[in-house]
Amino acid sequence: MRLSIKMYLIIFISASVILYQYHLSNAWLISQTSTQDFRVLNAKNSEKIRNVTTPFNASSISNTNTSYPNTTALCFQPKNKDIDLPPLYIITPTYRRPEQLAELTRLSHTLMLVKNIFWVVIEDAVRKTQLVTELLEKTGLKYEHLIAPMPEQYKKKKKGPKPRGVSNRNRGLKWIRDNAKNGVLYFADDDNTYDLQLFDEIRYTKRVSMFPVGLITKLGVSSPIVKNGVFSGFYDGWMAGRKFPVDMAGFAVSVRFLLKRPKALMPFKPGFEEDGFLKSLEPFEPQDIELLASNCTKILVWHTQTKKNEPSQPLDFAKYNNTNLVMLKQILV
Ligand SMILES: *[C@@H]1O[C@H](CO)[C@@H](O)[C@H](O)[C@H]1NC(C)=O
Ligand SMILES: *[C@@H]1O[C@H](CO)[C@@H](O)[C@H](O)[C@H]1NC(C)=O
Ligand SMILES: *[C@@H]1O[C@H](CO)[C@@H](O)[C@H](O)[C@H]1NC(C)=O
Ligand SMILES: *[C@@H]1O[C@H](CO)[C@@H](O)[C@H](O)[C@H]1NC(C)=O
Ligand SMILES: *[C@@H]1O[C@H](CO)[C@@H](O)[C@H](O)[C@H]1NC(C)=O
Ligand SMILES: *[C@@H]1O[C@H](CO)[C@@H](O)[C@H](O)[C@H]1NC(C)=O
Repeated sequence: MRLSIKMYLIIFISASVILYQYHLSNAWLISQTSTQDFRVLNAKNSEKIRNVTTPFNASSISNTNTSYPNTTALCFQPKNKDIDLPPLYIITPTYRRPEQLAELTRLSHTLMLVKNIFWVVIEDAVRKTQLVTELLEKTGLKYEHLIAPMPEQYKKKKKGPKPRGVSNRNRGLKWIRDNAKNGVLYFADDDNTYDLQLFDEIRYTKRVSMFPVGLITKLGVSSPIVKNGVFSGFYDGWMAGRKFPVDMAGFAVSVRFLLKRPKALMPFKPGFEEDGFLKSLEPFEPQDIELLASNCTKILVWHTQTKKNEPSQPLDFAKYNNTNLVMLKQILV
């Protein structure tokens, strides 16, 4: 009898010691791996431990879904209130070059954060680039993918700059005329950097709005000059007798305003594309400009200009056939 009570006692004490050590080790682990919050935890409360550690479930992190998420469903589905916003039509001319996919990736990720937007992408090419189509599809944005090759007469031009992007932008304007009724259009080249605030501001353009563009010429900026809240000229490193010496990224146009001017078009005149287009919007005078970016005191768009890259060297197929490099090479220019 006595012996068995002793035995029970010994078993009970041993069990208690083992249990206590187990809990101690838990407490030790937690104080090693975490911050003060963990240390104040009662180590005996395993439920709390589980609660606190849940966010760090490594297996759920490593279990990341690698397929591209349906971004339309995630955040770009217009909510009811977004539909009330005037649509923004973004016209982006582009052409095949080493930087193209990088630039379009960057621009697309900006546009994916803008509400009620329609992206009109026009390639200077005789057929659509499959990789560009795939990129556009992936964004979940509403878009139109068009082509508009530069006319032969300009392509053959040997001397001086070519009127790059003009054929694309005019194709974009035609698309606007055929499809848009209201809202605002903006020429967003793929090599610029855009502050999201820009899109909020241009969305309510009534005629033509203008704003500073950073990193233009030696002056560092191209902008309307504003004095006491009133337009009083242009600041640009290359005036060249232009009536509107502004950058392509420095203005936005109301769709209704454009539709009332059926002849408005961009000329095939290198350096004078903006000026020619804005003059073709007559009647329209510099005094009619709507000044954005807090009286043109802020820079919401930058003419970044990516470094030009040489086309990649040919792949040595004898050496690298049947490797991943063959596929990578197909993406490169
Ligand atoms: C642990 O989380 C559950 C659900 O979040 C909650 O109901 C429970 O009260 C938490 N337990 C403790 C000890 O915090
Ligand atoms: C951790 O995440 C995986 C996968 O999401 C899940 O199956 C598992 O139950 C989670 N573990 C805990 C402790 O919550
Ligand atoms: C991964 O995400 C895709 C698209 O969102 C979905 O269709 C698919 O079911 C997901 N797969 C897993 C394993 O969660
Ligand atoms: C993505 O989600 C939207 C909205 O839920 C849906 O209309 C569309 O069909 C989905 N696309 C894909 C590829 O699943
Ligand atoms: C622009 O300047 C004028 C005159 O100083 C001022 O009345 C107006 O509030 C300014 N507008 C903005 C948006 O800062
Ligand atoms: C590369 O491999 C493919 C088959 O995998 C073959 O058809 C092709 O001729 C090879 N090319 C060269 C240059 O070796």
